[in-house]
Amino acid sequence: MTSNTVTAFAPASVGNVAVGFDILGHALSVIGDHVTATRSATTGVRIIEITGELPREPALNTAGRAVQSLLAGRTLAWGVELAIRKGIPLGSGLGGSAASAVAAVVAANELLDEPLPRSALLTHAIEGEAVASGSRHADNVAASLFGGLVLTIGEDPPRCMLIPVPSSIRCVLVHPRLFISTREARGMLRDVVALDDLVRQSANLAGFLAGCYTNNVELIRGCLEDLVIEPQRARLIPGFAAVKRAAIAAKALGCSISGAGPSVFAWCDGQDAEAARVAMSAVFRTQGLECDSWIAPIGGNGAMITERR
Ligand code: HSE
Repeated sequence: MTSNTVTAFAPASVGNVAVGFDILGHALSVIGDHVTATRSATTGVRIIEITGELPREPALNTAGRAVQSLLAGRTLAWGVELAIRKGIPLGSGLGGSAASAVAAVVAANELLDEPLPRSALLTHAIEGEAVASGSRHADNVAASLFGGLVLTIGEDPPRCMLIPVPSSIRCVLVHPRLFISTREARGMLRDVVALDDLVRQSANLAGFLAGCYTNNVELIRGCLEDLVIEPQRARLIPGFAAVKRAAIAAKALGCSISGAGPSVFAWCDGQDAEAARVAMSAVFRTQGLECDSWIAPIGGNGAMITERR
């Protein structure tokens, strides 16, 4: 029987994962957003409740726009009301706009008489996320929708590959309480990449993926380095270079900016994660920045239905 009200949870995510700008992301299931979608008598999409300072106009809101995209071309006698509960801090680099879009389409899809398969929701979630970032890219959206470490190839349609990760690896995520606009952090990027950087970054991406597939933690350590985007964005995050040095000194495999920042992530071999978390947070505190931090396995589940009535 079709539900009238469905709530979905979508996890936060680490975008780019250092070597895969816009194409690589992993879920971070310790935090996320909830969206409740309810069938309403009025057609179209309405946002009836939202936590945080975010647009209520559906076309300007990542969740609202994603559901508009899902419903486009359907003739329905009913509409969808959305209630959005943000668990992910705004402008944190933790994939919050993607998570709201994903939770919204996953919940609203369940209101349809014939729900789409999960893979068909990706393009609608991308459409929603683009409202916030000003560009169509799937690194956060795909990780939040499917869970795990996800590589997205191509755009039309995007193809997603779930990448295996050595089970001992943990993600340390440190969020200094700053706001960075993804749109602005994208706008500051140069259009051109030096050939030498392209070669080295390609080698890093290939080596990183090979390390993941072959369970080679040391190969991952040697390749988890962003030579293209991180150097351009580092100045947005006070103390970033010292935070990174502290993570590497604490034996992290690599450390970089999560998405557009300001959150910083480090991948660690299991037992090294706590020392990296403490060291990274301590450096941010010397900059006068309070932090939230988490340690989690790489990936975890993608979006899920938490309630239906
Ligand atoms: N890949 C994106 C970026 C993630 O770094 O700009 C944030 O949307």
